[in-house]
Amino acid sequence: MTPILPKLGWILFFIMTVIASALAYKFILKGDVEIAPDGRSSILLDEPERAFFLNEMRNFLIAVQKISEGIEKDDMVQIAAAAKTVGSGDLAHVPPGIMGKLPLVAKKMGLSTHKAFDQMAMDAESLGDKDHILSQLNQILPTCTACHSLYKVK
Ligand code: HEC
Repeated sequence: MTPILPKLGWILFFIMTVIASALAYKFILKGDVEIAPDGRSSILLDEPERAFFLNEMRNFLIAVQKISEGIEKDDMVQIAAAAKTVGSGDLAHVPPGIMGKLPLVAKKMGLSTHKAFDQMAMDAESLGDKDHILSQLNQILPTCTACHSLYKVK
């Protein structure tokens, strides 16, 4: 007689692994996206999430503007304050649904951008060196443009 039960165990294990991998792919790696006509991936958000996401983006640009101005005026108080508005503290307000919809690559770029602004705020306060801030800004901006060339929202 064939020992069917142990085999069944392996088959179930295999099926569960496939399902778990598919779910991990969908929710962690791929996110909720479709390919846009311009070749980028459209992240599919609902209306309030989209409004939140784009508002965050405009805040990024406002911060960049104030930081750039702060460098010109050598004003570390302005730089630290602007960087803090878009630091990791900002993540507390992210609607819970968005994180599952963002592809892993986008999530990583978003988180590293917020962290880089945290570091800038700390360095503005502790080092007060505008050349250092400028080089930090120049390290952040390529992440903005890289993400924009890969993703849009819909
Ligand atoms: C995680 C990826 C990602 C990162 C990092 C990112 N952006 Fe964006 N940003 C987007 C996407 C996606 C859009 C929507 C573009 C579209 O739909 O065409 C967007 C849109 C914008 C907009 C337009 C907002 C609006 O109301 O239409 C601005 C301004 C902007 N980003 C600034 C920035 C700046 C400045 C940075 C860096 C400090 C940055 N973004 C970093 C993904 C990103």
